[in-house]
Amino acid sequence: MTAIEPPMALLAELTHRCPLQCPYCSNPLHLERPAGELNTAEWLRVIRQAAEIGCMQVHFSGGEPLVRPDVEKLVAGAVEAGLYTNLITSAVTLDRERLQSLVDAGLEHVQVSFQDSTPPGGDRIAGYRNAHAKKISAAQRVREAGLPLTANFVVHRQNLHHLEDMLELAVSIGARRAEIANVQYYGWALRNRAALMPSRAQIDEMSGTVAAAREKYQGVLVIDYVVPDYYAQYPKPCMGGWGRRFINVSPSGKVLPCHAAETIAGLFFDSVRDRSLEDIWSSSDAFNRFRGTAWMPEPCKSCARREIDWGGCRCQAFAVTGDAASTDPACSLSAAHENLVAAATQEAGAFLDDFVYRRFRSSGR
Ligand code: SF4
Ligand code: FES
Repeated sequence: MTAIEPPMALLAELTHRCPLQCPYCSNPLHLERPAGELNTAEWLRVIRQAAEIGCMQVHFSGGEPLVRPDVEKLVAGAVEAGLYTNLITSAVTLDRERLQSLVDAGLEHVQVSFQDSTPPGGDRIAGYRNAHAKKISAAQRVREAGLPLTANFVVHRQNLHHLEDMLELAVSIGARRAEIANVQYYGWALRNRAALMPSRAQIDEMSGTVAAAREKYQGVLVIDYVVPDYYAQYPKPCMGGWGRRFINVSPSGKVLPCHAAETIAGLFFDSVRDRSLEDIWSSSDAFNRFRGTAWMPEPCKSCARREIDWGGCRCQAFAVTGDAASTDPACSLSAAHENLVAAATQEAGAFLDDFVYRRFRSSGR
C-alpha cells in the first residue's frame, strides 16, 4: 500500500444545534445532543493533533458553531497551533460583539450561507424569520472588520431561478468568493428530494448563468461551481477522495471521512476520546475501507478516471443502492445510473414544492 498522505484540513463540527432548519441539511437524521458534545479541552486537543499530523486549515462548522460559547477559545487554540481558521456560519446570531471577539481571537475567514437572494425565499427555505436580513447585516459586518468573506448558496429547484441575483448579492456584500453548491441527496435532503430536484432545463440554464457571471465579475468574484451529480457524466471526487484530504470530527468526537459518513450502515467510526487523530487517520477500519482504489468494483476498477474522481461519493452510493462499495450511481457508467436519472427527472417534473422540515412542514412557493 502507498504511504498515506496527511490530511489538508480538519472539519470541526462543533455541534448539531442550529437555529435554522434547511430542508437539505447534511446533518444526520438523529442529531447529537448537547450533553454528548466534546468539551473545550477535548476540542483543543483535537485541534493540536490535527496540526501535528499535517493539517493546514481548520473549518469550524455545525449545525451552527456560534451556538457554542467557546468558539473564540478554539479559534485561539487553532491559531496557536499554526492552523488557518475559517468559520462556516448561518450568521443569524453573529452580532458586532461576537464578531469582534472572534477577530480578537485571530479568526481569518468567514463563510456565510444564504438560502436565496430575497427575504421571502431565504426565510422560507431556512425556516427562520428574518434570517435573510440578519445574514446580510452580519456579512457586511464581516467585511467591515476586514475579514475575507465567502458567500455560500445551496441551490435547488426552488431557488435556481434566482441564481443571477444570488451572485449579484455576493458582490454587493463584498464577498470575494461564491460557492454554488448543489444539494447532495442523503440525510434530510433525500427526504426532500422531490421538492429540491432541479430539472434538466434549469441545469442547462445554470451553467450558462455561471459562465456569464464569471466573465462579468472577473477579478471581483471567484465562483466555485460543479455540475450537479445527477446530471453530470461522471461524479465529482467527493471530499477529494475518501481519507485523502479531509478529516471530519463530529460533535461527539467521532472521526469521519466526510460529514455524511454516518449515514452508511455497517461502518464503525472511532472517537477522539479513545484514539489519537493520527492513529485513526492512518489505521482505522473506516478510513481504510474506501481509501485509494483497491476496494473498487468494476467499472471503477479498470476505469481511467479512478484516480480522478476516486469512484465518486460513498454516501450517495449507499443511499441509492444500499451498497457503499458500489460505483456512485451518479456516474453514467454505473448500472444504477439510468434508473436514478429517470427517478430524478420524474421528481423534478412533479412540482411537489412542500418541504419537510425537522420541526414542521411548510407549504410551497
Ligand atoms: Fe469514476 Fe468509477 Fe465512474 Fe470511472 S466508473 S468515472 S472511476 S465512478
Ligand atoms: Fe460521504 Fe460523499 S458525502 S463520501
